[in-house]
Amino acid sequence: MEHEESIEARAERRRQIAPGNHAGVDEALIERVVRGFYGHIRQDARLGPIFAAEIGHDWEPHLLKMIDFWSSVLLMTGRYSGRPMPVHIRLDGSKGDGKGLDAGDFQHWLALFEATLRELCPGPAEALFMDRARRIAESFRMGIQFHRGQTPDWLGPVRSAG
Ligand code: HEM
Repeated sequence: MEHEESIEARAERRRQIAPGNHAGVDEALIERVVRGFYGHIRQDARLGPIFAAEIGHDWEPHLLKMIDFWSSVLLMTGRYSGRPMPVHIRLDGSKGDGKGLDAGDFQHWLALFEATLRELCPGPAEALFMDRARRIAESFRMGIQFHRGQTPDWLGPVRSAG
């Protein structure tokens, strides 16, 4: 009979291959980045109101979800199992100005994220976070455009991690 890998062994193997593990990312850094970033978002004139309309006053559930999200992306912990694309497609349709989420909104999100990383992150971790954020922002932007029946454009160059 074949030897079955234990749950612990599998978790350890994932930990070893997780990209964040090779770039100095750990749970404590993820939590600092998420809390720092959404602290900036809340103050932001352009994006703050979009989040406030969805989230209201209690940010903690959103922050915990985003910590799980980044833990899954960078440390492969599998703690996030949601589907963010439909959430952002819905936001595009419900944005108050009738124009939806545009490339400028996503670029602004990325610029705020980059500024947060510069404050809080060592170099390789910053490059990795930023690389994944750009790719995911790009995919949301394209998903939204497909959903609208538009030809997807391109947000800008995706920096490679490393
Ligand atoms: C213009 C850019 C963006 C806006 C305005 C935006 C806004 C929002 C809002 C309002 C929510 C719902 C909050 C809640 O009720 O919990 C949300 C959820 C989320 N966002 Fe974004 N977002 C943007 C870009 C991004 C990017 C670039 C990423 C990833 C790198 C991201 C990842 C997520 C995830 C994982 C969720 C949770 C979805 C779920 O409910 O499972 N967002 N976003």
